[in-house]
Amino acid sequence: MTDNKLKIGIIGCGGISGLHVNSYKANPDTEIVAFCDIVPGKAQEMATHKKLAGARCYTDIREMFAHEQLDAVSVCTYNATHAECAIYAMEHGAHVLLEKPMSVTLDEAVAMARAEKATGKILSHGFQPRYAPLTRQLCEVVGSGRLGEVYYIQTGGGRRNGIPNGTFIEKRTAGIGALGDIGCYAIDLALNPLGYPKPLTVTANTSDYFGKSLKYSEPENVSRFDVDDFASAYVRLEGGIVLDFRIAWAMNMDTSGDMLMLGRDAGIRIPSTECWNRGPGGQMTLYYKNSAGCEVGEILPDPDPEFDYNTLFARKVDAFVDAVINGAAAPIPTSQIIRNQAILDGIVRSAELGSEIDIEIPEI
Ligand SMILES: NC(=O)c1ccc[n+]([C@@H]2O[C@H](COP(=O)([O-])OP(=O)(O)OC[C@H]3O[C@@H](n4cnc5c(N)ncnc54)[C@H](O)[C@@H]3O)[C@@H](O)[C@H]2O)c1
Repeated sequence: MTDNKLKIGIIGCGGISGLHVNSYKANPDTEIVAFCDIVPGKAQEMATHKKLAGARCYTDIREMFAHEQLDAVSVCTYNATHAECAIYAMEHGAHVLLEKPMSVTLDEAVAMARAEKATGKILSHGFQPRYAPLTRQLCEVVGSGRLGEVYYIQTGGGRRNGIPNGTFIEKRTAGIGALGDIGCYAIDLALNPLGYPKPLTVTANTSDYFGKSLKYSEPENVSRFDVDDFASAYVRLEGGIVLDFRIAWAMNMDTSGDMLMLGRDAGIRIPSTECWNRGPGGQMTLYYKNSAGCEVGEILPDPDPEFDYNTLFARKVDAFVDAVINGAAAPIPTSQIIRNQAILDGIVRSAELGSEIDIEIPEI
């Protein structure tokens, strides 16, 4: 163990934590010294599997922080415990890389944002598609002003039949279903290029027809399933922009449509994907009228056809580590992602009420 490496803890040792571990192991500036999972034996299993036998293992983050001086942690727990783990970690001196979605509710997100402000720690968010070349290209096109004033965005995507299982399908652990799992990515892809305009109102609907159907789910999953498998929403954003959103883990359709961004000067079609966790589903097309008055549909060249999408995770971890080392701002900041969470939270509340509601994010 060398003292100048950042001491890292991994909180939550399930499916996604393995990619965090691989990324820290490959980063010369970090060393994983501790694992924690509330399920006895799970932290140890991960430490052994990743050949990090020297790391200490815990079943309670309080116990972990009582024994460890951690510089940073990855919070890889299911959504329902993101807030408690991230807040505890920041209050005990660690910077946090938090898996997506930010949380289940807006209240939890606000509590995390306040803890980040009070402690001065970095809280960065796990949206690795931001590092994909096609995502960057979208940001460049929108940022260049080529679309003119953007007034409408449709986000599509989702799966014909792809309901996950495990902890993803219960309110107790995931809190929200397709909405939080893949909906948060679709929202990030739509709003990040525009600098995350503030959400103002939302009217939404959610359903669970497929997760609760024996045609689509195993009997043991049907009986556990109590989250959404489909959500649709109409969100008004500041600047007169409308976000027309839909996401599905399952539906009787191949796709609920590509993502479209309409501006006064040009529109862009962003191919849909089943997951959104790697960014756009393919090359984008820009539509506009050229100076000769012709209507053009220009397929934008893939900026990096050889890009290895398996490196996305390491890129997000490396960006977080660089920010910690350099005392820089979070690469994927809470000021943006809290608006993502506010939309998810608004969708849940509007669907429950069956009417349009205001979205209000309290002062942090
Ligand atoms: N960025 C991505 O591409 C990506 C992919 C998959 C999942 N995720 C996100 O990562 C998170 C975890 O997903 P997963 O597939 O690993 O789920 P998982 O259920 O496999 O693992 C979560 C683990 O967290 C543990 N845990 C829960 N509360 C805890 C606590 N208070 N302290 C310590 N451990 C605790 C659970 O016991 C479990 O082992 C979710 O929020 C999910 O949305 C992100």
